[in-house]
Amino acid sequence: MLNQINVRLPAQSAYSYPIVLGNGCITQLNELIGRVGKVSKILIISDEEVAKLYADKLVQDLSLSYPTHLITFPSGEKNKSAENKAKIEEQMFKLQCDRHTLCIALGGGVVGDLVGFTAATYMRGIRVIQVPTTLLSMLDSSVGGKTAINTSYGKNIIGAFWQPSAVLMDINFLQSLPQEQIINGLVEAIKIFLTFDKAYVEKCTNNIENIIALEHDVLIDIINRAVSLKAYVVEVDEKEQNLRMGLNFGHTVGHALEKITNFAVLHGYAVGYGILVEAKIAELLGLINQEDYQVIENLLAKINIVKDYLKQFNSQDIVVAMRGDKKNSNQEIKVVLINGIGTMKNIGNQVAFPVAENMILQAIDCLKGE
Ligand SMILES: NC(=O)c1ccc[n+]([C@@H]2O[C@H](COP(=O)([O-])OP(=O)(O)OC[C@H]3O[C@@H](n4cnc5c(N)ncnc54)[C@H](O)[C@@H]3O)[C@@H](O)[C@H]2O)c1
Repeated sequence: MLNQINVRLPAQSAYSYPIVLGNGCITQLNELIGRVGKVSKILIISDEEVAKLYADKLVQDLSLSYPTHLITFPSGEKNKSAENKAKIEEQMFKLQCDRHTLCIALGGGVVGDLVGFTAATYMRGIRVIQVPTTLLSMLDSSVGGKTAINTSYGKNIIGAFWQPSAVLMDINFLQSLPQEQIINGLVEAIKIFLTFDKAYVEKCTNNIENIIALEHDVLIDIINRAVSLKAYVVEVDEKEQNLRMGLNFGHTVGHALEKITNFAVLHGYAVGYGILVEAKIAELLGLINQEDYQVIENLLAKINIVKDYLKQFNSQDIVVAMRGDKKNSNQEIKVVLINGIGTMKNIGNQVAFPVAENMILQAIDCLKGE
């Protein structure tokens, strides 16, 4: 006889977390920590480059209220690894971190993802506050709870959904960031505006120089809107079952370009070229008109993301690399399709649709002028 016992857990209680955004708002970190609940110890975890610039002052300030320690690891994508996760854990054990230890992830997306994942698994989960220091991590990776490490089998394929207890975005950090990294992040804002908000596509187009020059008001406005949209998407679909896939606009091609260049191209730039191709696919499918496509091409050209970049690749190689995309099913390549500026094709919150390989090839060849 087969016995069946059902485990009935109460539905996970809804919870929310604050995102503080401003110029110089790092001074509010202590107060934010106070709102998190009981804290036995604080661990600031950062990469070596960011730590050099910002960690000392933070350790000094927080030490006045909590036992505070700093852990660092070398910067760069290749360090978002299982090895570094294990090294951080080792140090956490030596420091006798317990379940009331609070991690502060101070850095870009690499730090946020690695620290987030470490916090997700240490003693089955401890709290983390994300303090993003790149534009990409402010606009994108610090919000939404995706955490991960890379393995030799692929990027971000071991990880967990682990929401932070708070996020603090101080645009002052961006002053030390090279312009290339500003553009790298800005593409993720352009991506979300192209799929959700036409007015902000216009705002970006008209203010691009001021944004890149880190002019406070416009920068805060852009980050605020992009993060609000991302927060909305995450609220609707935390685990990326449907609507959250819309954040992948430009990414099916973008990931393929990262793969075939062996990650020589920065993620945001790859997504930018991906947006050009995926918007062209939408045009070829009759979902947007030529003028709409031109709006996108003109906007990206302002940040030197131009279709000529694609000429160096064999179009077929891009398509082959797209076959490995995580959105695919039944051996079909799926793409997020805009059907206007600021809107995407959405059928019952399903937003990724199969596109024939010859259509993708046609779009790439068209952009290459072939
Ligand atoms: N979790 C998510 O939802 C999500 C979303 C998008 C991207 N990501 C991940 O984010 C990562 C990329 O993030 P990134 O672009 O921030 O890269 P990054 O963290 O590697 O930072 C880029 C470089 O800038 C340096 N840096 C960071 N802040 C600085 C500052 N204020 N001044 C000077 N230098 C600074 C870093 O040391 C690094 O060398 C990737 O691993 C990607 O997979 C995650």
